[in-house]
Amino acid sequence: MPTPTFGAKPTVLRCSRCGKFVDWEDARLQIVCGCRPHLDLPPVLVREATDLDRPAVLTLFERDFGRTRLVTFGEELHLETVPTVVADSEGEITGALAYRERQQALHIVALATDPLWQRSGVGGHLVAEAELIARQRDLPRILVATTNDNLPSLYFYQRKGYRITEILPDTMVGATGTAPSIGFGGIPIRDEIHLTKVLA
Ligand SMILES: CC(C)(COP(=O)(O)OP(=O)(O)OC[C@H]1O[C@@H](n2cnc3c(N)ncnc32)[C@H](O)[C@@H]1OP(=O)(O)O)[C@@H](O)C(=O)NCCC(=O)NCCS
Repeated sequence: MPTPTFGAKPTVLRCSRCGKFVDWEDARLQIVCGCRPHLDLPPVLVREATDLDRPAVLTLFERDFGRTRLVTFGEELHLETVPTVVADSEGEITGALAYRERQQALHIVALATDPLWQRSGVGGHLVAEAELIARQRDLPRILVATTNDNLPSLYFYQRKGYRITEILPDTMVGATGTAPSIGFGGIPIRDEIHLTKVLA
């Protein structure tokens, strides 16, 4: 049974206006046009995580995803044991995506980018790699779960062609009477939201 601990998000994002790190709860949405100039950054190599990468990957998930254990699609998963691809930016691990196969689909279990590297293409490269792995395994779909408060990830995935396919109300709240954890922008974390992309 999920507990509020699994839904808690002590993670950080980075302010796209001033560049400072911001606690999840203090982050705000901002409407902008496409005026942001393209940044030319060092190349990012996306590759499978090795055993040597594991400590850095777990630190990144702990800090930037908010946890290394989670309950998703009704199952408790430990990121220590889940296959992971990493974004390697000149020897530094700047993002990670954990995945597994689930019911003829590739399930993105966790995805996080180091706040210093957010909005520079790292998350997009990792998701593209997950889609490539799914194609190589003849898996026709990619699945991902997020929560109702996580507007940045709902935006991010829908921009990449993922569609909301299921909403599980109150899954994140736990036992009756438990107050929900507070998520992005101070929004209570209540519902698990599933998104799916059917691969062409
Ligand atoms: C969701 C998350 C993984 C996105 O990762 P990211 O690395 O910031 O994603 P990207 O950089 O690929 O793309 C985000 C934006 O950056 C822009 N961008 C990418 N490369 C760029 C570049 N070189 N110059 C300027 N902008 C760029 C993209 O266009 C996109 O913006 P847009 O959709 O408004 O056009 C990240 O916000 C995160 O780690 N969140 C916390 C954990 C979390 O919620 N995980 C998801 C739950 S499953």
